[in-house]
Amino acid sequence: MPIVFEGVSYSYTAPAKPKDAKKPRIKAKEASIPGERPAWGNAPDALWAIHDIDFTLEDGDFLGIAGHTGSGKSTLIQHMNGLIHPTLGRVLIDGTDIADKKAASRIRGKVGLVFQYPEHQLFAANVYDDVAFGPRNLGLPPDEVDRCVRDALAQVSLDFDSLRTASPFELSGGQQRRVAFAGVLAMRPSTLILDEPVAGLDPATRNSFLNLIAELHRQGLTVVLVSHNMNDLARLCNRVLVLKEGQQFALGSPQEVFAHADELKAIGLGVPSAQGLANRLVAQGVPLGDISAALSPRRTAANPEGATKRLYDIESLADELAALYKAQPAAGAIQPEETVHEGQAGGPYA
Ligand SMILES: Nc1ncnc2c1ncn2[C@@H]1O[C@H](COP(=O)(O)OP(=O)(O)OP(=O)(O)O)[C@@H](O)[C@H]1O
Ligand SMILES: [Mg+2]
Repeated sequence: MPIVFEGVSYSYTAPAKPKDAKKPRIKAKEASIPGERPAWGNAPDALWAIHDIDFTLEDGDFLGIAGHTGSGKSTLIQHMNGLIHPTLGRVLIDGTDIADKKAASRIRGKVGLVFQYPEHQLFAANVYDDVAFGPRNLGLPPDEVDRCVRDALAQVSLDFDSLRTASPFELSGGQQRRVAFAGVLAMRPSTLILDEPVAGLDPATRNSFLNLIAELHRQGLTVVLVSHNMNDLARLCNRVLVLKEGQQFALGSPQEVFAHADELKAIGLGVPSAQGLANRLVAQGVPLGDISAALSPRRTAANPEGATKRLYDIESLADELAALYKAQPAAGAIQPEETVHEGQAGGPYA
């Protein structure tokens, strides 16, 4: 079920009112966008929250979306399940424009959207009813609803028997978020869209959520993850989309996107911390690069980009530094005999 964005622009305030009131929206070819670049953002003359977005979310993708505050991330993902519709352009799911009501109802439940701080949307008197809300809305029979609720609570590691009658409001913040998450999983979506799902969680809860998301992806879900955390995006995603002022700034593999540290810095974004350290080491002359070329000068004909050709994580950077250290002991190693002083325990005179 690929989701295709075709020149999608969205304005919270309509750019022009169609003369014919029955005409719901302006077609792309009829519209004229004033100026070369549309006004953007929440300034008084603001127009486009996102502008001319063109990409395809493929089945099995783990797409990360990054961008500064107000860059349009939340606006963009709400187009993926038809919560809002493009002002210009189209969103196609399985080849059908989801502005079409019939098509939208077919995909209802297939694309699950977890908002930021989803626990704020808990509403039912008990956990069971909250998680069951979506499946019931899909019109599933009670025994099927029951299976959906049990499976979804198990997926988020919550105990069905002890929690089914509990009020969601008496649970801890982390548990509440799990319940909210279960409410989306209970619809058995094939695509899961998460808007900063680990914001505000403690490190252990955060990790268990990220592991759960990675596991759901391994099980076959297509995942879209909006995050400000470049380490998480580099570790989890196969593609990263970066937005700047509502427009597509970069789209590619984490390697491709994070190779452009300076450009990202210019729009207020960083690179994964291990990559940032690798870049600084390279800038200071440490010959990092492709592991096979680790001992040759960092920029060679075969490896003109040096370290930027690969994306480092903590493990790969540690491995490469260790390999460099072992291969060049004279360059940086501290010789044991130089550090041992007379009379020191373990020294030659002990
Ligand atoms: N309901 C709304 N009405 C009017 N303008 C809005 C509305 N929601 C968002 N905007 C504007 O649209 C632009 C994009 O907002 P959006 O919430 O998509 O950004 P974001 O990248 O998700 O930001 P953040 O990282 O802070 O969550 C911003 O200029 C914002 O002020
Ligand atoms: Mg947002």
